[in-house]
Amino acid sequence: MRKVKVGVIGAGQISAIYLKNCTQTFDDILEVAAVADLVPELARKRAEEYGVPKACSVDELLGDPDIEIVLNLTAPAAHAPINLKALQSGKHVYAEKPFALTREDADEVLSLAEARGLLVGCAPDTFLGAGLQTCRKIIDDGWIGTPYAANGTIIMGNASSGMHPNFQNFLKLGGDPILDMGPYFLTALVFLLGPVTRVTGTAKQLRKEIEIRNPKSHRFGEVVPVEAPTNVTAALDFAGGATASLQAAKESFGYYPRLEIFGTEGNLTVNDPNFFSGTISIRFPNGESKEIPLTHGFTEDSRGIGVADMAYALRLGRPHRATGRLARHVLDVSLGIFEASESGRHVLLQADLEKPAPLPLGLKYNRLDP
Ligand SMILES: NC(=O)c1ccc[n+]([C@@H]2O[C@H](COP(=O)([O-])OP(=O)(O)OC[C@H]3O[C@@H](n4cnc5c(N)ncnc54)[C@H](O)[C@@H]3O)[C@@H](O)[C@H]2O)c1
Repeated sequence: MRKVKVGVIGAGQISAIYLKNCTQTFDDILEVAAVADLVPELARKRAEEYGVPKACSVDELLGDPDIEIVLNLTAPAAHAPINLKALQSGKHVYAEKPFALTREDADEVLSLAEARGLLVGCAPDTFLGAGLQTCRKIIDDGWIGTPYAANGTIIMGNASSGMHPNFQNFLKLGGDPILDMGPYFLTALVFLLGPVTRVTGTAKQLRKEIEIRNPKSHRFGEVVPVEAPTNVTAALDFAGGATASLQAAKESFGYYPRLEIFGTEGNLTVNDPNFFSGTISIRFPNGESKEIPLTHGFTEDSRGIGVADMAYALRLGRPHRATGRLARHVLDVSLGIFEASESGRHVLLQADLEKPAPLPLGLKYNRLDP
């Protein structure tokens, strides 16, 4: 199959694993042709590290007629503008999460793509990993009976260690717990239980500023503003009848992720949806707990699998899975939680979306199509 040429925009922290996977794990279908960043040195460094032939400016990358997919790994506020630029240049686009910071921006991207006949994909693609694919099979095969409720918790530290090169992005909308970490949990829930019809929630902010406390940070001692909610509690109703609660906060320390799905015949403990695999177990009505072996591949950090799936979709003329429409729904849920908190009322959502298709069993190593 002819490979799909990819141009990467954004050569920051997460670009390393994407470039590794796009040049090695998924090299059956992907070929990275160029890397660009606002900071040319970062693009040059990544291109060199991963054997990419060209490091260039964003405009040069978008002007390369051979590049079919733009992989947008920029900071949250740049996702929609870069997506629009890529689509205007006739490229399919796959972006990191959050898909956008407003529904209007998200819709502009989706409308332009539709008008031009181009594909839009978006992270997270962790639901294509072994863990969540196994959980979907468990649910679809009826092992836990009717899933009626879920409980997601993501508690983590704030950005006060100052160790991420652009840690201040985590203190703004887009780096907040719901738009930054929520997509993993919400995408997993939509993949497992279907779309959400109604949300409510409470969004709080503990402090207006924090001090960088890590002596290893080059900004040690600086006091920086916190500009987004940092502690969110939400309740979700799914079109299929299930409900879920979600607690997302970046106010403590360490990292405490948890996701459980409760069914009439069993309670499923899901792996951390921020990862591609992990321990999965079911507690059965007799009180016994059993660890469940993984049924699917992609146990390693496979970031970029959503791009590979999109590339196969392009070549084979089939739908892809980590779509912009799915990410738009997840954004709708996220913004709905904030709006419910402000208005003190439930927010109704459009749930005109199918669950993404699971991956088939028995795929060849690192391949997404038989
Ligand atoms: N760091 C992680 O562990 C991680 C994990 C999963 C997802 N993500 C997501 O990936 C995205 C990037 O995160 P990161 O940690 O790599 O951030 P980063 O700040 O390290 O990198 C972002 C890069 O994008 C570049 N950039 C910003 N705007 C640009 C523009 N308009 N044109 C060209 N380049 C531009 C910046 O110069 C920077 O090098 C974020 O949306 C984040 O939510 C990050």
